[in-house]
Order: sequence, then C-alpha cells, then structure tokens
Amino acid sequence: MILSNFVNRGIRDVEVGTLLPLAKDSKSILEVGCGTGQEASRVLAATHADLVGIDVAEGMIDFARLKLTTRGFSSRIQMRVLPAAHVDELAQEFDLVYSFNGALNTEPDLPGFFAGAGKVTHPGAFLVISLRTRPCFGETVLYRWLGKRSELARRRAPQVQVEVVGEPVESRYYTVPELLEKVPRNFRLVSLTGLAVVLPPYLAPRVKGTVLQRLVREANRIAGRLPWLKVLGDETLFVFQRV
Ligand SMILES: C[S@@+](CC[C@H](N)C(=O)[O-])C[C@H]1O[C@@H](n2cnc3c(N)ncnc32)[C@H](O)[C@@H]1O
Repeated sequence: MILSNFVNRGIRDVEVGTLLPLAKDSKSILEVGCGTGQEASRVLAATHADLVGIDVAEGMIDFARLKLTTRGFSSRIQMRVLPAAHVDELAQEFDLVYSFNGALNTEPDLPGFFAGAGKVTHPGAFLVISLRTRPCFGETVLYRWLGKRSELARRRAPQVQVEVVGEPVESRYYTVPELLEKVPRNFRLVSLTGLAVVLPPYLAPRVKGTVLQRLVREANRIAGRLPWLKVLGDETLFVFQRV
C-alpha cells in the first residue's frame, strides 16, 4: 500500500540512496522499527552485511522474517521484538544503524534510544534516521492559502494518536532543532535532507497524471536539498557519524 503512493516511493529512494553508499563496507547493520522488512530487503540485496532488525510489534517481526527468509537472506538476519530505547540490550556492535519513516516518532524515550545507539556502535559508525518533522512547507502554504489553518493544528500538537498495528500509540513531531537537541555529542551531524517538503504523502492521491506526479517528485527532491527549505519537510533524513 505504502509503495503505491508516488511521494512515499520518492522518500524511500532518497533514504535508500543515502544509506547504501554508507553501507557498502559495513559488516553488521541494525534496522530499528523494521516494519515489514521492505528496506532491510533492499539493504541485504545491495551489501554483504549481516542485519539485525528490531521492532516493537511481534506481527511485524514475524512478517519481516518470513519475507526476508523467502528472499534467501535467512543466514544473514536476526529479527527481534525490542523497542528502540532498548537497543543496548543487543550484545553486538554495529557499523551502521538506521531507522526510517517514523518509528522514532512513537518511541517515548528518544534520549534512551540515542544513548543505546552510542553503546552499540563504534567511532566511525553511521546512524541514519528519518522521522516526521514540523512544520511541513507544502502543507503550511496549502492550508494557509485555502484558509484552513485548523488543519495545521495536528502537526503542531505536542502528541498525536496514531495506529501501530491496530493499537493506538502517541506520536510526536519534532522541529529539526528540537530533534538535534536530543542527540548526544558522541554523534556528529554529517547531513540532513528534507523529505516531501513540497507535498506530503497523504496529499499525493490528489495529484493525477504521471507528468504532474513526476514534477512534484522532482520538486520534493530539489526542495529537500535547499538551505532553509530542507528543514521544512514532512520528514527529515539525518545522517550522523559516531565520534
Ligand atoms: C511507520 S512504520 C515504518 C516501518 C519501516 N521502517 C518502513 O519504513 O517501512 C513504523 C514501524 O516502527 C515500529 N515502531 C514503532 N514504535 C517503535 C519503537 N518505539 N521501537 C521500535 N519499533 C517501533 C512499528 O511497529 C512499525 O513497524
């Protein structure tokens, strides 16, 4: 379902396109909030690394394990039910840790996650994360123009309810500076990229026609790299390196 949305496909291409060059020489990789294992599958196919996938939802872990086993990766994976803030329970060191598309928005103890990530990585290792951020440029412009400012309240609220595998959980949107404040000094910011700056995924079904979709996708890609605009994405992709 997620991949039928052209904005989501664009987001994932930027994320994986950023991750793979960093994963090239990795031997051990950790994915946090692996969901159905879609990204893990791309990473395993493009590298020789072993991958540990964790997720809070047992159903997701079972689904991801089955998918990755069916695709021939069983000898290179370990899938485990574990919340992000408990990564330090993994008695292993990783060359690369990543988490994409909002798993960290529903982690109530984000400082605990960063502290744990510091413990399971060595200096030089990379931490690549994307999470929902606020405000989103395209959404703000659109709703202000339509006179529907109340539509913007959801993203401004300190916590919103979302569903994770049928269960209601609290999700938080961060501004880029708020997120950076939570990152300890043993991680150095290497780059940040705005994702879906012009059009967030939930508005994508309103854009009809392949030409228009291609234009929007390109606008999202370019805006995500521009100073000022790149901190105004529906999501932000951060690359940190452990020092
Ligand atoms: C929006 S999905 C994204 C899944 C996957 N990363 C992707 O990009 O398709 C969020 C996933 O994170 C998991 N999740 C949510 N909160 C989590 C937490 N605190 N720790 C680990 N996983 C979490 C959910 O169960 C779900 O599978």
